[in-house]
Amino acid sequence: MFNSLPSGTTTIMAKQIIIDHVFKVFGDAPEQALELVRQGLSKQDILERTGQSIGVFDAHFTIEPGEIFVVMGLSGSGKSTLVRMLNRLIRPTAGRVLVDGQDIGKLSPRDLRALRRKDISMVFQSFALMPHMTVLENTAFGLDLAGMDKAGREKAALEALEQVGLTGWGASYPDELSGGMQQRVGLARALAADPSILLMDEAFSALDPIIRTEMQSELLRLQQIKRRTIVFISHDLDEAMRIGDHVAIMKDGQVVQVGTPDEILRAPADDYVRDFVRGVDAAAVFKAGDIARQAFTVVSERVDQGCRPALRLLEDSDHEYAYVLSSRKQFQGVVSSQSLRRALQGHNGPLGLQHAFIDNAPTLAADAPVADLFGPMSSAPCPLPVVSEDGKFLGVVSRTTLMKFLDRDTPPVPPPQAEREPIQLNPQYPHATSNPVAPAA
Ligand SMILES: Nc1ncnc2c1ncn2[C@@H]1O[C@H](COP(=O)(O)OP(=O)(O)O)[C@@H](O)[C@H]1O
Ligand SMILES: [Mg+2]
Repeated sequence: MFNSLPSGTTTIMAKQIIIDHVFKVFGDAPEQALELVRQGLSKQDILERTGQSIGVFDAHFTIEPGEIFVVMGLSGSGKSTLVRMLNRLIRPTAGRVLVDGQDIGKLSPRDLRALRRKDISMVFQSFALMPHMTVLENTAFGLDLAGMDKAGREKAALEALEQVGLTGWGASYPDELSGGMQQRVGLARALAADPSILLMDEAFSALDPIIRTEMQSELLRLQQIKRRTIVFISHDLDEAMRIGDHVAIMKDGQVVQVGTPDEILRAPADDYVRDFVRGVDAAAVFKAGDIARQAFTVVSERVDQGCRPALRLLEDSDHEYAYVLSSRKQFQGVVSSQSLRRALQGHNGPLGLQHAFIDNAPTLAADAPVADLFGPMSSAPCPLPVVSEDGKFLGVVSRTTLMKFLDRDTPPVPPPQAEREPIQLNPQYPHATSNPVAPAA
């Protein structure tokens, strides 16, 4: 998602995080425990034998500046331990965490405090709002530690409240707010310091589904305004797929797969990941553009003709419909042999293709979730054209494609297809020498 943003709309103030072979063992004999992991013993066995608990084992990956990086896994898989090592709330047993190249393990206590105040904010699932403090005071809480004066704190807090849609609530008390709104205050508190890194540990997990989806959208919207590096912990794959640019999946302290949501859905690394992926609502994750197939396309340069050659072309080929593009691949309309015949009835001269466009064939936006296609598809007379934001034709979605998409455990969406060159309509066809059925060079 962050790749598709138009440039210039977003301020980027983000940092890269490298997690360099990081281990965390809880217990006083970590080396012994690590050795047993290397020998292949399970986390449970090691705990029973040694009393040492493997929190994180050899995590190694990079979080790029400005992306939402989701860490997923079952409860106890090490997510919280991992994220707490990113601001050194927990120190790794081995390995390094680099924030913009800086090894945070080497920071002096003072630099570490500065990092936590200025650069990294954390949002928890249940951060306690102070009941006796107003929403504004709760939001500003912590800013005084950053050395900000009262006026500055208030200004920052008001701005943060505005960002999360709570303008006007500053004077209220937490118990006057719904659970969702309280979570917004938590987010506002994290945003008030204007951090370049946000660590969110199951921040939305306690919210009910509708509010949760709302908060996810909120987060994506905030990313459009000012892009931060967000490390988002979740145990919900739908959530991960929706907001994550990259997702890491953890199991028993180990990172078993890192990839884009797409990569993980298409090629789960093992059975554990496959089990996760099976439950995913693929129709919410994949977009029309992901499942669009190539179709029979024609180009007509001349607006005043085209119906006759297109009709002959369709009759000569095996195709029912032709998707008409401009020479710049902008989608124009769909014709069928039936619509062409009807348009040509009682007409002797050349006739423009636009007179034969099927009128109840709406275009589908490339970024429309597959889940939203069922309505338009149910009444569609033909496979519907998928069109990018700038009007380019990307292919078609048919009812069959849609049914096939639904009919599987894991959704291995077809890999992108080779683009088919549109056929240049030759007004003289079939009498001209060139054969329009061959793709134009
Ligand atoms: N302070 C601690 N002392 C001992 N073991 C811990 C401690 N914190 C976490 N663990 C263990 O580390 C593992 C990972 O825990 P955690 O990171 O909280 O998982 P998650 O956030 O994925 O649910 C668990 O087995 C947990 O029991
Ligand atoms: Mg946790």
